[in-house]
Amino acid sequence: MDSAVIDRLEKSFNALAHRGEELVDRFYALLFARNPQLRALFPSALRDQKQKLLSSIILVMKNLRSPEMLRQPLIDMGRRHVAYGAQPEHYPVVRDTLVEVMASMAGPIWNDQLTSDWKRALHFVSMVMIEGHQQVAGCACNAACSAGAAPAMAGA
Ligand code: HEM
Repeated sequence: MDSAVIDRLEKSFNALAHRGEELVDRFYALLFARNPQLRALFPSALRDQKQKLLSSIILVMKNLRSPEMLRQPLIDMGRRHVAYGAQPEHYPVVRDTLVEVMASMAGPIWNDQLTSDWKRALHFVSMVMIEGHQQVAGCACNAACSAGAAPAMAGA
């Protein structure tokens, strides 16, 4: 990812970082409103989960300039997600929901360029996680899983 994209990601995230709790609250509310079937995959109390999701986004943001630092943690996270019941086709749903919530919270400072930057960054995260998913023997893979594209780290 080039430096201009990273600058935009950092700037937009910094504008929302102090509202991190609201961000994850709204993310799960929208995710489950649109995809009620996903609720059963998550624990009934989401408090810890929300904090963990926020921490993982912060980890990604801190390492945008050294994505090789993210690779193994994201592979491991993707591997753990197999046991949670996550499927490769859920990843774009999570990505788009997160971007939509960020856009609606950011209001006038948001634009189409940021939507595209964030989708690209979260696509990279998803692709590495799906790579981990595919490493898990016996994962309940479907066609979307085995079709998972190789993560484009340099170009992402
Ligand atoms: C951008 C992609 C994603 C990120 C950054 C992310 C991040 C996380 C993190 C940090 C955790 C805490 C547990 C752990 O680290 O293993 C977690 C748990 C979980 N994630 Fe994700 N996740 C992503 C995509 C997904 C997708 C696509 C699904 C499928 C619906 C999903 C479902 C879950 C579930 C069900 C748990 C809770 C497991 C439990 O505590 O029982 N996640 N996620």
